[in-house]
Amino acid sequence: MTNAVVPNILLPVVAAALVDADGRVLLQQRPADKSLAGLWEFPGGKVESGETPEDALIRELEEELGIAVPHACLAPAAFASAPLGDRHLLLLLYIARKWVGVPRALEATVLKWVRPADMHALPMPPADRPLIGLLDALL
Ligand code: CDP
Repeated sequence: MTNAVVPNILLPVVAAALVDADGRVLLQQRPADKSLAGLWEFPGGKVESGETPEDALIRELEEELGIAVPHACLAPAAFASAPLGDRHLLLLLYIARKWVGVPRALEATVLKWVRPADMHALPMPPADRPLIGLLDALL
C-alpha cells in the first residue's frame, strides 16, 4: 500500500434560487474579469474547507448580494455537475423564498429576476443550465 495522495477532483459549489412573490428567480451576470464572463448564474460559490454547504451559501449570499438568509429558509432542491478544467464541479441548488435585505450586485455586473421558462434564452454556466428544467417543475 502506498501513501499516494488522492486528488480532490470534485469542487463543491452551492447556489441559491431566490424566488420572489411572482415566481421569478434571481440571476446574476458574471463580471468580465472572471471565468465564464458574461454568463448568467444562480448566486453562490465554492464551499470552503470546514464549511457545511448551507454555511457556505449563507456566506456567499451575504458577500455577493448583501442579504441574510436564515438556515431554516434554505431548502435543498437539485444538483448538477459539469467538468471544470481538470476537476469536476458539483453544484447544489437550494431554494429560498424569504431573506432579509434587498439583493444588490456587490460582485456581479448586474442582477435580473427571471421566470424559469425564460432562462433557456440566457447564456448560463454548464452546471447551472440543467437546473432550469428542475426549477421550472418545482416552482
Ligand atoms: O469567484 P469565483 O467565480 O472564482 O468563484 P466562485 O464564485 O466561488 O465559484 C466557483 C466556481 O463555481 C466558478 O468556476 C464558477 O464559475 C462556478 N459556479 C457555477 O458554475 N455556477 C454558479 N451558480 C456559481 C458558481
